[in-house]
Amino acid sequence: MHTGGDLRSSRSPAILRIARADHRTYRASRAARIAVTLLLPTRLNAWMRVVVTGGAGFIGSNLVHYWSREHPSDELIVIDKLTYAGNRRSIESLEREGRLRFEHADICDEEAMERILPGTDLVLNLAADTHVDRSIGDPAPFVQTNVVGTLVLLEAARRHRIGRFHQVSTDEVFGALALDRSAERFTPESPYRPRNPYAASKAAADHLVMAYQHTYGVPATISNCGNNFGPYQHPEKLIPRAIVRLLSGHKIPLYGAGANVRDWIYVEDHCEALDVIAHRGEPGRTYVVGADGEHTNLEIVTAIASRLGRDASAIEHVPDRPGHDLRYALDSHRIRSELGWRSRMTFDDGLDKTVQWYVANRRWWEPILASSGIVSGASGAAGI
Ligand SMILES: NC(=O)c1ccc[n+]([C@@H]2O[C@H](COP(=O)([O-])OP(=O)(O)OC[C@H]3O[C@@H](n4cnc5c(N)ncnc54)[C@H](O)[C@@H]3O)[C@@H](O)[C@H]2O)c1
Repeated sequence: MHTGGDLRSSRSPAILRIARADHRTYRASRAARIAVTLLLPTRLNAWMRVVVTGGAGFIGSNLVHYWSREHPSDELIVIDKLTYAGNRRSIESLEREGRLRFEHADICDEEAMERILPGTDLVLNLAADTHVDRSIGDPAPFVQTNVVGTLVLLEAARRHRIGRFHQVSTDEVFGALALDRSAERFTPESPYRPRNPYAASKAAADHLVMAYQHTYGVPATISNCGNNFGPYQHPEKLIPRAIVRLLSGHKIPLYGAGANVRDWIYVEDHCEALDVIAHRGEPGRTYVVGADGEHTNLEIVTAIASRLGRDASAIEHVPDRPGHDLRYALDSHRIRSELGWRSRMTFDDGLDKTVQWYVANRRWWEPILASSGIVSGASGAAGI
């Protein structure tokens, strides 16, 4: 039975004290931590062995860049199947510098997980099929990776007494809010009411995570985050799709009137929240992660068009997605009050950075466009 206790029970008291410091102190003491780590005998330089599944995807790749910067002494392992959404180029600089080990594997593959996971201190599970439109077209792969894959990881975590398992989940498990009830927000206590196959598969995975926590004592946490944006996001999703379509001389296709509201967070803020939860979150607890960034889809694409010198004529309204959830909004009170996390990036600054990144990194996204139909044909609606 796991104790569900400290990730680093075998590490030195000095390191433990630093790891338990409050979040501000924790960041401020980064230089001191690195210095302490460098002075320690070699066997302690491997601070923690951290496995990031889905580390070649959007949030996963941002997370491993973040982690290698913030925790340079940790041993980082990325597990990724490299589906159409995974892109090894997003993390190639880290691989080249020897800052992570890449394992090309499917999280549903029990043998592979059995080989890779023993000795791991922390698993951050981000591997998933993630695009709602694709889940509506074909739900089965979503159940396979998101549910069965999570089960395989949990089994390995149980058998090998992995120090901490963190499940990266979504606000979509809570269903949708009405557009006209602006005070209502999702909290960790909100009931699960998934309304599309993607959300249902994520909800099922979350239930398994909590079942393993309660039944077997696997020290697990869950975070439910809103819509992320930032570098390295596949251009099938709303913000990068709008940017690359305009940069390629096409209009932005927008579902319906674009009135649907999402709660947006800059991906780096999400990465920092995951860091805080993994180190200081309480096993068995769920954390809702949002940045008070509610915007309609129309506001988002209008803001992107204006940053690229275009007006409303660059937006083309197309028929809506079936069962399109109206509004997601998040109450992050728990992670703020219990763990001291706060988002840092304003929506406007984050969008500036994101647009600039896609302008400067055509070499990253142009090969994806060539194979995806994002700038051609009718598959071009701006989904999330
Ligand atoms: N993007 C968002 O706005 C958002 C918001 C909240 C939560 N999330 C959650 O965060 C996680 C990451 O989302 P993302 O946007 O980075 O997704 P993504 O689609 O960009 O990346 C998913 C990654 O998982 C990999 N993968 C897929 N199936 C796999 C399998 N069977 N085995 C191993 N690897 C596999 C893919 O190759 C890809 O690299 C997901 O669990 C998602 O549900 C995303």
